[in-house]
Amino acid sequence: MAKTVRLMAESKENVLMEKIVSLCKRRGFIFQSSEIYGGINGFWDYGPLGAELKRNVKDLWWNTMTRRRDDVVGIEATIIMSPRIWEASGHVETFADLMRECPLTKKRVRADQVEPQSGNVIRYSGVYRRTQGEKHFSQLIEEFALSLTTQKAIEQFFENNITDAEVRESDPQLYDQLKDAPNKLAAYKKAICSQGVLFNGFSVLLQPGKPLESARKTASQYYTEKGCSDFILLGERIDKVENSVDFHPETGVELTEARPFNLMFKTYVGPVESEDNVAYLRPETAQAIFAQFKNVLETSRRKVPFGIAQVGKAFRNEVTPRNFTFRSREFEQMELEFFIKPDEVVEAICGHVAKAAEISKESTEEPTSNIQHSTFNIQHLGPAADWGWEAWHKYWVEERIRFYEGIGLPRTMLEEYWQKPEELAHYARACVDILFKFPFGAQELEGIAARSDFDLSQHERCSGKSMGVFDEELRAAWSKLDDAKKEALSRRYHEARLKYLTKMGVEQAAAEQEAKEDAAGLAKGQYIPHVIEPSAGVDRLILALICNAYHEDQMPDEKGKPEMRVVLKFHPRVAPIKVGVMPLLKNKPDLVKKALEIRDLMRPHMNVFYDDAGAIGRRYRRQDEAGTPFCVTVDFETLEGMKEGPLAGQKDTVTLRHRDDGRQDRVKISELLPLMLERIH
Ligand code: GAP
Repeated sequence: MAKTVRLMAESKENVLMEKIVSLCKRRGFIFQSSEIYGGINGFWDYGPLGAELKRNVKDLWWNTMTRRRDDVVGIEATIIMSPRIWEASGHVETFADLMRECPLTKKRVRADQVEPQSGNVIRYSGVYRRTQGEKHFSQLIEEFALSLTTQKAIEQFFENNITDAEVRESDPQLYDQLKDAPNKLAAYKKAICSQGVLFNGFSVLLQPGKPLESARKTASQYYTEKGCSDFILLGERIDKVENSVDFHPETGVELTEARPFNLMFKTYVGPVESEDNVAYLRPETAQAIFAQFKNVLETSRRKVPFGIAQVGKAFRNEVTPRNFTFRSREFEQMELEFFIKPDEVVEAICGHVAKAAEISKESTEEPTSNIQHSTFNIQHLGPAADWGWEAWHKYWVEERIRFYEGIGLPRTMLEEYWQKPEELAHYARACVDILFKFPFGAQELEGIAARSDFDLSQHERCSGKSMGVFDEELRAAWSKLDDAKKEALSRRYHEARLKYLTKMGVEQAAAEQEAKEDAAGLAKGQYIPHVIEPSAGVDRLILALICNAYHEDQMPDEKGKPEMRVVLKFHPRVAPIKVGVMPLLKNKPDLVKKALEIRDLMRPHMNVFYDDAGAIGRRYRRQDEAGTPFCVTVDFETLEGMKEGPLAGQKDTVTLRHRDDGRQDRVKISELLPLMLERIH
């Protein structure tokens, strides 16, 4: 019963996703890349409305994260960088998914994402390949083939079933040599069989209602792909399996063992395709920020704490791109690396480190699990000099949720997933995933990680260039500390550095020496900054905004009859078109002239869509589907003056129609622009 309910719920969600995907195509938000050639899996193009929506989102992020702050600057780096960056970051070695492959179609699936299946599995132990010279052996074996399951069984079969006369017939000269040596003759019989036998097991889950013959056909296809042209299947047997995750969801073929598969797209720089020229399309924008840290620090004259932001393309050869644009192979990220002082430095300067709880007033409700529904309304008390990593981390989680609220994603649609200690990367102190409740489940929109000094330390070690900073405040404060405090802080810093260096495989004595020097640097005002990283995906956010905006409701048509309508209730800040401007009738030059004047008045400030085609109700519906929050209609009262109401007798008024509830207000043209600007900024 429970299963039926779940399936029904899933299908309702699938139907919703299908409607969203179809609206995206119909209205020009998102198209499949290369559609005219059948598409390319994991790649998506944004159409006219999608491109506007995306631009708005990226601009809002950029303005919020950089221009409206004193402590963040932006960069724009290249997509292809030195491959040594990816060695230092660990991507070359460890940026991989465990995958399993269908040996027939070579289609891969992520090892942790195989759907359980039950049924009858048909297994084969291999094939016997017929050759012309062995024709009579193969006829012999044919009868028994499907019962010969092991190499030993085959060998015994040949030894016992091939007569001496058959050997003589196949190779008379050899037979003469062997006929008086029974052991040698038996070995020869085994040998001739093993030449023709390919032991390569193959299993396939029989699809419900399909005959055994279909499994034989699939197995034969597999052995043909392996280069066998004339063969007999060996060792057929049937097993029952329950909820097995070992079979490909589409082909039913048993999957290979899980193997790591690096997700970076490889290319070559220059004309020679050699290992020396390998480069990668960046799988994240973050590493360029670390690599340029020193240049930005010096040229922007910032001091820690400060951040560097970047928006740009990233590429991952995802094994199973899915859920529309949610997991794509080419996507955009909006990442901030916010550099902070290590806690030891904060303590040396301020005498203490603020506890995370001290930075905000929040609900007293205790989270019951590591999922927190973001219903707490946290009020920041503002960044302060005594904030350590915990306070900064919590601050950025809250800042990011407020950003989402500000563009129309309510807290009730978001969840915070606090990763458990065993889920954290070895260098991470904490990581929170902000999840959005998509129709296909609550899924990650953004990750906010406290990454310690791992990234800068790695680039320092691998490039040989210092990534440390000099902090006069620290140097001055340190000289005033008593010996016990100096000792305690140095010891903690030393321990952290030693832990990092040994984890990265630095030999014990060298690690000890380096950690000692690093700790000694505190007295000189030197340290490697730690980092908090809020990392968001543009495309996932676009999908979340579209899913959140999608509504179906009833609205009266021209004749007042209720009609089903599809409407995208975007926040005016992100809406691709802010206002639709329409003359009531397109064949009345005075109405058209006025409407064009209004369009030109608004256009320098926002994206305006001028529409004079079709009945006015139809035009409103088109804008509803595009998510346009306002429509302005120029009618005869605009020209002749209002006949009644508070604006009676006044000319130059228009109808302002509101998308969400269809409400229509009468507004003076002179008041339109300030009114709109207030709503879209
Ligand atoms: N620098 C950290 C980093 O890249 P991540 O969790 O791998 O962390 C950050 O990626 C964000 O990038 C994710 O929260 C998601 O929004 C987006 N993202 C990652 N892989 C994606 C994919 N294949 N398709 C679309 N967006 C993706």
